[in-house]
Amino acid sequence: MANTQSSNPHPSFEPGPILLMGAPGVGKGTQAKELVSLWTIPQISTGDLLRANVASGSALGQHARALMDAGHLVPDDLVNQMVELRLQEPDTTHGYILDGFPRTLAQAEWLDDKLAVGAHRLPLVAVSIRVAYTQLLRRITGRRICPVCGSIYNVYLQPPRQEGVCDLDGTLLQRRDDDSETVFEGRMRAYEAQTAPVVAHYQALGRLVEVDGEAALDAVTARVEQAVRHLRNA
Ligand code: AP5
Repeated sequence: MANTQSSNPHPSFEPGPILLMGAPGVGKGTQAKELVSLWTIPQISTGDLLRANVASGSALGQHARALMDAGHLVPDDLVNQMVELRLQEPDTTHGYILDGFPRTLAQAEWLDDKLAVGAHRLPLVAVSIRVAYTQLLRRITGRRICPVCGSIYNVYLQPPRQEGVCDLDGTLLQRRDDDSETVFEGRMRAYEAQTAPVVAHYQALGRLVEVDGEAALDAVTARVEQAVRHLRNA
């Protein structure tokens, strides 16, 4: 499943556990992939893990499918169990990027407890990305994904070189089932009600920096990297 990794490839900087937060479409997945390249640590996306379960038809996937299609959150205990298993993989030794988890206060409390007794010596740091609602809608409705390599495109903002085809492997791009305008509105409501309090939780602990996500991809990556380094040195 994941690549194993035994030594830190960046001995001068250990990224540790990083949480990327923000509303649907702010660019968490896009930025996580940039940080994976930068620091050689894995991305742990609960959305991707759940979609893999839906695609394989597992019991978890069958339970999650209708909830995800309606823009609702999957129950905390199911998501926590999935994350617990993933964090046991050896590639998480020097850090990892949590993308889309935790997104309820109960998940955050579960994670805080887990990390408090866990082996990782660095605390979790969180970066919250902000983008205006109208821009989010454009990002969601225009998103296309390569089902083979996971590359993310946008027909309006980050188009592939050839329409509908992945630049890297030539696979036909797909649209996510929950990327319609109607489901997006439900996902935004879930974000405001259940995930915004998690942002406030890490802010109150002094472990969160907010960055403006409305800029070119590289510029946002530079802001996220700077925020992580700042939090690690604070
Ligand atoms: P999940 O897959 O996590 O979806 P999300 O949080 O709604 O976030 P997205 O993946 O839609 O957006 P993103 O921020 O990653 O944006 P991206 O980088 O792709 O979750 C899906 C569902 O799973 C949930 O609704 C829920 O049901 C369930 N779930 C997941 N985690 C759960 C949990 N912890 N608990 C319970 N349920 C859970 O970018 C978006 C678009 O913008 C792309 O087209 C991209 O090309 C473009 N773009 C990105 N950056 C830029 C830029 N700087 N400039 C221009 N375009 C850009």
